[in-house]
Amino acid sequence: MPDRSQSGTVNRRHFLAAVGGAAAGGAATLPSPGDAATALAAEAAEARDPRALHTVTLTVNGQDHRLSLDARASLLDTLRDRLGLTGTKKGCDHGQCGACTVLVDGRRELSCLRLAVMAQGHQVTTIEGLAPAPDTLHPMQQAFIDQDAFQCGYCTPGQILSAVACVKEGHAGDDDQIREYMSGNVCRCAAYPNIIAAIRQAKTEMEA
Ligand code: FES
Ligand code: FES
Repeated sequence: MPDRSQSGTVNRRHFLAAVGGAAAGGAATLPSPGDAATALAAEAAEARDPRALHTVTLTVNGQDHRLSLDARASLLDTLRDRLGLTGTKKGCDHGQCGACTVLVDGRRELSCLRLAVMAQGHQVTTIEGLAPAPDTLHPMQQAFIDQDAFQCGYCTPGQILSAVACVKEGHAGDDDQIREYMSGNVCRCAAYPNIIAAIRQAKTEMEA
């Protein structure tokens, strides 16, 4: 969004061009001072309005969604409130807990820190779209069940998506490495030993 001084510059340039063009074409086409002032005010107001909606297409779990979005909407809120994908959780809403982790082009990202409009042109994967087919589970999801790697489950979607990326990044070599590269995902139930066991199990299957 242009700043106020920039939009003023653009407006003046457009106004002078219009006046110059009109003068070249004859005095009858000159805008009246009142019309020009109204046009300038409307254009400036539009340029300053942060609520102006933007039409974007988001690709989530392989499906395209065309949405009119406030440019300030986070990807997290858009997934939950506009697309109904509530598997992505809101914990802190400022990048500290990892509950909102999703995959963007296969890389883990905190959806509370990413603007939804920035996700256009990228592949977003949430927990709802992680399994390879309906009524199946991704090996990481199955491993979390097998290893009893959750209690309340609130952090679990973010843990699972982060764990999938952790393995794919090659950062699940041993328990210490898993602990370090999963440290952005907080579990207030402290299911950490079981989460590590689940990642070890899934890693074997993912790399088989
Ligand atoms: S909700 Fe995004 S990091 Fe906590
Ligand atoms: S299972 Fe409860 S916060 Fe992790």
